[in-house]
Amino acid sequence: MSRSYDIAVLPGDGIGPEVVREGLRVLERVAAIEGFTTRLTRLPFGTEHYLKTQEVLPDPAFEEIRRHRAVLLGAIGDPRMAPGFLEFGIVGRLRFGLDLFANVRPVRLYDEYLCPLKHKTPEQLDFVVVRENTEDAYAGMWGQFKKGTPDEIATQEILFTRKGVERVIRFAFELCRARNKRRTLTLLTKANAIRAMEIWTRTFAEVGAEYPDVRREHQYIDAACMFVVTAPEQYDTVVTSNVFGDIFTDLGAALVGGLGLAASGNLHPGRIGLFESIHGSAPQFAGQNRANPLATIMAVSMMLAELGEPAAATRVEDAVVRVLRSHALPNLGMDSGVGTDQVGDLVLGALQAAPAGR
Ligand code: IPM
Ligand code: MG
Repeated sequence: MSRSYDIAVLPGDGIGPEVVREGLRVLERVAAIEGFTTRLTRLPFGTEHYLKTQEVLPDPAFEEIRRHRAVLLGAIGDPRMAPGFLEFGIVGRLRFGLDLFANVRPVRLYDEYLCPLKHKTPEQLDFVVVRENTEDAYAGMWGQFKKGTPDEIATQEILFTRKGVERVIRFAFELCRARNKRRTLTLLTKANAIRAMEIWTRTFAEVGAEYPDVRREHQYIDAACMFVVTAPEQYDTVVTSNVFGDIFTDLGAALVGGLGLAASGNLHPGRIGLFESIHGSAPQFAGQNRANPLATIMAVSMMLAELGEPAAATRVEDAVVRVLRSHALPNLGMDSGVGTDQVGDLVLGALQAAPAGR
């Protein structure tokens, strides 16, 4: 029986459409090679659509998206909009509305030239961050009072639930076990100052008792920001809260090539997944064929793994590795001198070849 997958595609704002275009070319080619098909539903949501229609992400569209196996998202954000309005209306709505509680963000060095640290090898930089994705300050419980007066007050609640903390910690233990590398799970908190994070350390110890084969480490997030630069080889699997995960993964991305490569999967096992680059919409570069599509292509690889197409996932990742190791790209930023479509061509060319043998 032929394998077919329904995928909702939201190219979004800024450079989103051009990097998604390359991601879809790679998807189409790998599907042909590996013998499955995809049915894509393209959705227009983002700034242009909002300015034309005043629609953010209407309920019927949300329900339609829910019926797909996966979502591929470009990027959302535009200076014409109030900061956070569409990010929360679209990205947040999908993460929270679909209850995608685990945001999985690999930090893997594929070639030494991509690392800004001295003397670090691919073996020393290979970890994955599991960022809690539905709670914390992102829950949207905030307020302003007496705005614009000398007595102004602004609040935003940091919110953790036992259910939310436990499920993401359990997910991270399972992932650590499945990776089967250093079998170490590091919890990042700020429990010394944010006392409510005691729920994280306690739950970590309790759930960890069920995983005697996984070594547990606990670090404060500020120290971890130092260690990840001085001794990144200690990390295997990392689990942390939403805000710290947001920050720590940009730092992680910078260590392995920058946001031009960093991808993420927003997951809830057994349900639809949302796959996206970690980078933003970079509106000042939109339409210039300068943005690197590798992050979106890596998001496609993560999507294929979750869809149950591991051979296709590996083939795409290997193709990206092959392109990186060819040193065809001096860097993965906007000034690499290699066009968005040319990077896509390089990956398509590498797709046909035998596995890169990582
Ligand atoms: C990310 C982004 C988002 C986040 C923004 C766009 C709201 O930075 O995915 O890391 O903070 O989660
Ligand atoms: Mg971020």
